[in-house]
Amino acid sequence: SGSEAVQLVIRLARAYTKRRYFIRFEGHYNGWLDNVLGGVVDDQTTGKPLALESDDDPVKTEGRDPAAFEYSFKLPWNDIEVLEKVLEKYGEEVALIHMEPILINAGCCPPRPGYLERVRELCTKYGIVMSLDEIITGFRVGLNGAQGMLGVTPDIATFGKAMAGGVPMSAVAGKKEILDLLIQQRVVGAGTFNGYPLGLAASLATIKILEKDGGAFYNKIGKIQNRLTDGLKDIGKRHGLPTLLQGPRGAFLFEFIDKEVAYSVRELKAVDATRQTKFRTLLLEGGILFFRRGRWYISGGITEADVDKTLECADRAMSKL
Ligand SMILES: Cc1ncc(COP(=O)(O)O)c(C=O)c1O
Repeated sequence: SGSEAVQLVIRLARAYTKRRYFIRFEGHYNGWLDNVLGGVVDDQTTGKPLALESDDDPVKTEGRDPAAFEYSFKLPWNDIEVLEKVLEKYGEEVALIHMEPILINAGCCPPRPGYLERVRELCTKYGIVMSLDEIITGFRVGLNGAQGMLGVTPDIATFGKAMAGGVPMSAVAGKKEILDLLIQQRVVGAGTFNGYPLGLAASLATIKILEKDGGAFYNKIGKIQNRLTDGLKDIGKRHGLPTLLQGPRGAFLFEFIDKEVAYSVRELKAVDATRQTKFRTLLLEGGILFFRRGRWYISGGITEADVDKTLECADRAMSKL
């Protein structure tokens, strides 16, 4: 699973740097385990920016180890000044910075221009392992993932989901000197299903399809996505509804809010959730089911006819909002 891949990255980074803390970010989902699931940013702290348990946390859980947040910092994402300040104080204690390169899990937010590049520089400066969590974006936005698309190379990265076309599979990719810790058996990354033949075969078959004809698959889903997003935007305009559509090829956000772009979960606080719920219900009545919280994925099976049906249905629905 992706959750396991993330845990392995944390262990590898700690072993590699001989440091204890890692940094993760608001709105990002990095698996269901105690040390990465939710928690809210403590904006008031003047000390180590540890996450807090809160009833406002959209992924709060009972049963968590009370010490689970002790060795990680949780920061607002896409805010380079906050990160710089934290690293000035604690940079030498941080093993890992782990983030989604594009924040798909909370609004398909793009990184601000220069943000990832600066994170890369800071990681190099402080000797921190930079990790991109490509469990959603890997193989979905393109064969080289978001890192290829955005031109920023981390030290290590996690992949899952799309990489085996729906068959369970995840992977950790990274610099030889870090992954060698596994080969040298200094770090354990065990699992009954590690390297299981079905997952590997499915992954290879998926990659073959994705590579075919110079990436024709990606061009196809890109076109389908544009048809859908252009259509939704037009319909919103015609009905006088403010909409936000953003995201890379393969995944996008559709929300009712008057914004050109949102760079963080904080910038999406004002979305009209009631309208979204009503829209979702109306679409469902028309036979169209989309994912929660305004997020849409484009699968290779979606046709132009599916898009047209969706847009017709969206038109009827928006006339009732
Ligand atoms: C960015 C990201 N990282 C990690 C995970 C965890 O993966 P899994 O659900 O396979 O454990 C997810 C799952 O949605 C994810 O979106």
